[in-house]
Amino acid sequence: MSELNKIALQILSEGKGILAADESTATMSKRLDAVKVQSNEINRLLFRQTLFSSLSMKECIGGVILYDETIRQKTSTGKTIPELINSSGSLTGIKVDTGAKILAGSIEEKVTEGLDGLRERLKDYYKLGARFTKWRGVYSISNKYPSDLSISSNAHALARYASLVQEAEMVPIIEPEVLMDGEHTARDCLNKTSRVIRRCFEELELNNVDLSGIILKPNMILPGANSNEKISNEEIAELTLECLKNNVPPTVPGIAFLSGGQSEIEATANLNKINIKNDTDFILSYSYGRALQQSALKFWSKDINNIAGTQEIFDHRAKMCTLASQGKWSENLENKK
Ligand code: G3H
Repeated sequence: MSELNKIALQILSEGKGILAADESTATMSKRLDAVKVQSNEINRLLFRQTLFSSLSMKECIGGVILYDETIRQKTSTGKTIPELINSSGSLTGIKVDTGAKILAGSIEEKVTEGLDGLRERLKDYYKLGARFTKWRGVYSISNKYPSDLSISSNAHALARYASLVQEAEMVPIIEPEVLMDGEHTARDCLNKTSRVIRRCFEELELNNVDLSGIILKPNMILPGANSNEKISNEEIAELTLECLKNNVPPTVPGIAFLSGGQSEIEATANLNKINIKNDTDFILSYSYGRALQQSALKFWSKDINNIAGTQEIFDHRAKMCTLASQGKWSENLENKK
């Protein structure tokens, strides 16, 4: 078993998942504005360190993805944030892309940038305590999108990123996100997500990436946010598993879904059903941002010094997601706090 494979398994073992707390300062400011908390360095740190020192970090959260600002911050007791995360047995991850920019040649689509100088930045992040990384490619979906250009440009960037990350002895999270926005059906989402993922693996193999030392972070297969189609958790689980079985090589140890705009309960219920129906060898877990933090953020915003209360809300959510990643969640557990 390679070191990278061990790290990937450590992050996702025993129902553990990933807390994606890597919102860029611009995105975090939007989230804080929405709950009327001033977005400054101190408040961003306070919310995040509140989550990272929660009880559920030990049992539920195998890894936390940070943004550049946070990995360099210290708590009031002088611990670095990676030290705080490690103290509960969880691993530190870092978002290393520099964001999705307009794709020249197809200007309604995006390509993710950040390869320039990446080798040097990775060395720095390793020294700061990171053991895994994240890069997100985003794909619009409609009749004409994603275009072949977007599919191939993002796959190329993801694969070059992954290869540099493994060279730096860290585990790359490969995140090709087909967005939920649109009127498309779940079948469309299946077909397009399948093309996107297939292409990513072609490029990863071309770049000699060790597939046993990566984590895939895909979207679930869902109808578009503006579609009239209503499908059950069962169908979502079947379509999602069909997509993974047909397009992800079995060497990949773990898959951690993004929540992508689903509510906390939807993201939990769908993950649970996927695990109940899982007939693959993949570990199927979560790498949620909004679906882990939304309620905690809302509660915290009412009194930013209520650390224990905020942690209780976060702990509940993390526990529900961890049960879902073992197929052991049920809706009535949501009320037993
Ligand atoms: O890149 C996206 C985040 O890591 C996951 O966020 O669960 O809110 O979609 P989300």
